[in-house]
Amino acid sequence: MSGDAAHANPITVTTLRKMKRNAEKIVCLTAYDASFAALLETAGVEVLLVGDSLGMVVQGRETTVPVSMDEMVYHSAAVARGRRRALLMADMPFMSYATPEQALRNAARLMQEGGAHMVKLEGGAIQVETVAQLTARGIPVCAHLGLQPQSVHRLGGYRVQGRDEGAARQMLQDAKSLQAAGADVLLVESIPTTLAAEITGAVDIPVIGIGAGADCDGQVLVLYDMLGITPGHRPKFARDFMLGQTSVRAAVESYVLAVKSGVFPATEHGFN
Ligand code: KIV
Repeated sequence: MSGDAAHANPITVTTLRKMKRNAEKIVCLTAYDASFAALLETAGVEVLLVGDSLGMVVQGRETTVPVSMDEMVYHSAAVARGRRRALLMADMPFMSYATPEQALRNAARLMQEGGAHMVKLEGGAIQVETVAQLTARGIPVCAHLGLQPQSVHRLGGYRVQGRDEGAARQMLQDAKSLQAAGADVLLVESIPTTLAAEITGAVDIPVIGIGAGADCDGQVLVLYDMLGITPGHRPKFARDFMLGQTSVRAAVESYVLAVKSGVFPATEHGFN
C-alpha cells in the first residue's frame, strides 16, 4: 500500500464486518508507538492493537499483569498520533474492568485520552454484562477468548485452551453470548484450529486469531515476535518474518501478504 493509500477510507467496524462477509482476511499487528503505527499501516496492516503485551516486550516484565491504565493510555495515544487509516484497538489492562462501572470509566479514558476506536477485554460469560453496557453506550468491544494472559497465574502458564470437549463447547457458547451482548470482534488465542474454525463459522462478527489456525477471519501477532526480536522463547504460533528480508517494512509487507493469501499461519503454527 502506498503512503497515499494510508489516507484512504479509514478502517471501521463496518469495514471489518464487510471483510468477513467477503472472505477477505483482516491483518492485525500489535503497535506501541507512533513510528511503528505509521509504518505498519502504510505496509497494509488494517488493525493496530495496543496490546498489554507491551508490559512484556517493551517494559521487560514477566507477565501483562502489572500493566497500568495510565501506561495503556500513554501508548495508545502515541499510536493514535502515528496512524491515519488503521483501526486502533486498545487493551483494557488487568483489573481495569472488574465491574461494568469501572469498565465504562476506563474504556472512556482509552477512547478520549488514548484515541482508541475499540477496546479489548479478556473473558467469556463473565464479561457478557460488561460488553452489553459498553456497547450500549457506543464503545466498540473486542472480546478475547481462549488463552487469556491476564489469568496466567490462575492457569499456571501459557497453555492451549479449549482442548477438552466441555471447554470447547463452553467457548463456543461464550462466543455466541458475547456476540448477542454486542461485541464487535472476537479474538481467540491459542486454541485448537478446528475449534477456531467452528467459532468463526458460528458468529457473524469477525474473529481474529493468534495461535488459532488459518480459518479465522483475520490474524494478529505480537510485533516483536514477527520481527524476531522477542528475547528468549518465541511462541510456536509465531513466525519470524524478518528472515530473508532487508528491512522492517519488507518484513511487515510479507506478513500482510502471507495473511491475505492464507499462507500464514501454516499447519505447524496451529494446535490440535
Ligand atoms: O496484548 C496483546 O498483544 C494481545 C495479543 C497477544 C493478541 O492481546
